[in-house]
Amino acid sequence: MKKIRKVGILTGGGDCPGLNAVIRAVVHTACRDYGLVVCGIIDGYAGLIHKNVRKLELADVSGILPRGGTILGTSNRDNPFNYTEEGAGKAKEHRDVSAQALKTIEYNEIDVLIAVGGDGTQHIANQFYERHGLPVVGVPKTIDNDLNGTDVTFGFDTALNIATTAIDKLHSTAEAHHRVMVIEVMGRYAGWIALEAGLAGGGDVILVPEFPYHIQAVCDKIRRRADGGKRFSLVVVAEGAKPEGGQLVVARQVNDASDPIRLGGIAAQVANQVEDMTGIESRYTILGHVQRGGSPTPYDRILASRFGYHAVEAAVNRKFGHMVGLRGNEIKTTPIKEAIAVPRRVRADDDIVRTARAVGTCFGA
Ligand code: F6P
Repeated sequence: MKKIRKVGILTGGGDCPGLNAVIRAVVHTACRDYGLVVCGIIDGYAGLIHKNVRKLELADVSGILPRGGTILGTSNRDNPFNYTEEGAGKAKEHRDVSAQALKTIEYNEIDVLIAVGGDGTQHIANQFYERHGLPVVGVPKTIDNDLNGTDVTFGFDTALNIATTAIDKLHSTAEAHHRVMVIEVMGRYAGWIALEAGLAGGGDVILVPEFPYHIQAVCDKIRRRADGGKRFSLVVVAEGAKPEGGQLVVARQVNDASDPIRLGGIAAQVANQVEDMTGIESRYTILGHVQRGGSPTPYDRILASRFGYHAVEAAVNRKFGHMVGLRGNEIKTTPIKEAIAVPRRVRADDDIVRTARAVGTCFGA
């Protein structure tokens, strides 16, 4: 059995606060506890394709714990199993360049790859593991919190804090002007940010992708509040929410991207319909990428550090093809294949949903 001497680490997909805390914990654990060498792969899987790798030492991770983003860079376009190449004057071509990516691993003598990312990144890591036998360990990240195999992903808590702070700010101006404020949050096809920030911020209406809504029900709720003397309302809408029988609102379609659909704009649709149907002035705010930026919360720094430490432990203990995750208060590993089989979505019987209903929140039904 080959001894583990070198660990490679990459951060893939959309960034989120806490990535640097993982990198720092991996470097410290690998170098100090096990005397391993750590190679950082630049810009996610793009670094493997383009041979862009650098050694990471303790000095490289000094001071990065509170920093958002990732010192390694990231990319959500460069899938080595379906790589898009654009030749001069030629149409775009899709090729499997995974063998080329593996050469970078071999050339740098990387014994195990730690892949920090969401479902797309974990999917690719698992393909390397299953098709090429590459030893991989996954670390789950995403503000969307939509991965199984962990109770929570790091990045979510920071996004939740940012979204809740924004709702609080909109609350006072909504109240002053007697308006309806519609705030759109991220989450792709999962409603976790909308649900939890909505509950924390006192959203009167929360619209999530998992429960298609009826605009009439939203307006009825706002009208009832107005009739009861509450002349303002807060509507928290997930970017992936859609009306019953209706369509997602897509800001732009980019056919060659790994995820061709860029969501965005549902808040404008909801605000305009509410104003037309209730006669109450309505405004909307789209929070966007601000939810992914800035310094991670203490919770995310701690969770990300634990994931980094346990990812190295998993690598040394040869738990290849597994992803670390939080279960209760323990860090456990799950086969990546299981973690990515189905996304983690909001369910009607979830305690947070029941609590939100109990405090009077309308889900648009
Ligand atoms: O998956 C994280 C996320 O921020 C989603 O919530 C959002 O839909 C998407 O990424 C935005 O991606 P991009 O950075 O490519 O615009």
